[in-house]
Amino acid sequence: VAGKPFRIALAGLGTVGVGVVKALHQNAGLIAARAGRPVEIAAVSARNKKKKRGVDLSGCTWVTDAKALAEIPGLDAVVELIGGAEGPAHDLVKASLKNGIPVVTANKALLAHHGYRLAKLAEDKGAALKYEAAVAGGIPVIKSLREGFAANNIKAVYGILNGTCNYILTEMRETGRDFADVLNDAQAKGYAEADPSFDIDGVDAAHKLCILSALAFGVRPDFKSLKISGIRHITARDILAAQELGFRIKLLGSARRTDKGIVQSVEPCLVPIASPMGAVEGVYNAVFVEGDFVGTGLSVGRGAGEGPTASAVVADLIDLARGFCVPAFGIPAASLKKGGWTDTGGIVSHFYLHVVVLDRPGVLADIAAIMRDHEVSIEAVLQRGRDPDKPVSVVITSHPAPQGRVEKAVAQIAKLRSVAGRPCLMRIENF
Ligand SMILES: NC(=O)c1ccc[n+]([C@@H]2O[C@H](COP(=O)([O-])OP(=O)(O)OC[C@H]3O[C@@H](n4cnc5c(N)ncnc54)[C@H](OP(=O)(O)O)[C@@H]3O)[C@@H](O)[C@H]2O)c1
Repeated sequence: VAGKPFRIALAGLGTVGVGVVKALHQNAGLIAARAGRPVEIAAVSARNKKKKRGVDLSGCTWVTDAKALAEIPGLDAVVELIGGAEGPAHDLVKASLKNGIPVVTANKALLAHHGYRLAKLAEDKGAALKYEAAVAGGIPVIKSLREGFAANNIKAVYGILNGTCNYILTEMRETGRDFADVLNDAQAKGYAEADPSFDIDGVDAAHKLCILSALAFGVRPDFKSLKISGIRHITARDILAAQELGFRIKLLGSARRTDKGIVQSVEPCLVPIASPMGAVEGVYNAVFVEGDFVGTGLSVGRGAGEGPTASAVVADLIDLARGFCVPAFGIPAASLKKGGWTDTGGIVSHFYLHVVVLDRPGVLADIAAIMRDHEVSIEAVLQRGRDPDKPVSVVITSHPAPQGRVEKAVAQIAKLRSVAGRPCLMRIENF
């Protein structure tokens, strides 16, 4: 394809950066046809120049200080694939936009914390800020929310947004093993980071949810307005009990519009085995969108890894090369509303409660009384085995009740002398 090359600088040559180089090399012809011109890597930056990366970078200028990429004359885009909300990634993105250079990034942490200010800067300077790879890698969810569903008033966005957690929960179910054991194994296989806390404590999913919320509801991404709970406390018993009740446990990011405001949370929840979300297993991600005209839709795909993430980055580059540019969050940054958040207390749902109790007379009656006092009515009780004065598992499901009220009841149940450990409370989501 003839035409002036679209010249990019690439910062970060790790999993995603190398994937982007491979995609641009391997599919150069069709990418050029779709972009209307060849995409050329003019310069790259990473920490270690000597590291073997398995890709040919001989024609690219090596730049030691990533921020200096923003000063290269004649660049059409900077691709930031370093990561982290602060430091070199933030400095580079800011410097590039300030110089009017469009930016493509996969950095959800950066967008969750600085998305509003960066979107505003991008607009002020007339440079695009694109980030398809930041949420659910291989699923083009940013494009669908921002463009495909643009006619809709979005009521809710839900998702399985972290492949590591979904993999761990799936393994726990399939093998009956406990969380710590499966996590160790996932780390050994490279499915979980050496420091897995961002994934398993729900932070990574929360970063992504902030971005989805901003797009869906026209609000500023706000990491402080989320309730976040991870999956460390989920036991093999929870997985089994959920299964017996007809559910699977998923770490769900959910953002919904309510009368009181937008409620966002990342929490493990139960979803019916037979639901489309229940069928999303292993490292797969899923995003469910509910709009007033389109109805409901679910997209499923690989959320991370070299190939899916690189695919999303290159799609953004092709859009840029074609001159297709919309505001970062779909509407002008100045129109993005601030706040409007509310907590999860008002969500009315069925609930799952797992309590380990000492098997003494009256303990179930005490739990039932507390639930009654909080106007939470019990739907079913599941108890396996009996061993006087030994801990036994009791699983209770409730009829629909507001989450705030159920949480208060559970806080009181946790204080009962016959209750051992921390009760596990989860919402039962039914789509
Ligand atoms: N991995 C995924 O599946 C995935 C999926 C979706 C989104 N993302 C996002 O994509 C971004 C990159 O992730 P990744 O998994 O590719 O990370 P990674 O494998 O750790 O790679 C990071 C790269 O950044 C380079 N780097 C670090 N500090 C730098 C600095 N000060 N200046 C220049 N380069 C620097 C590193 O250089 P050296 O190689 O020399 O050490 C490395 O090449 C992150 O924002 C991540 O959240 C990743």
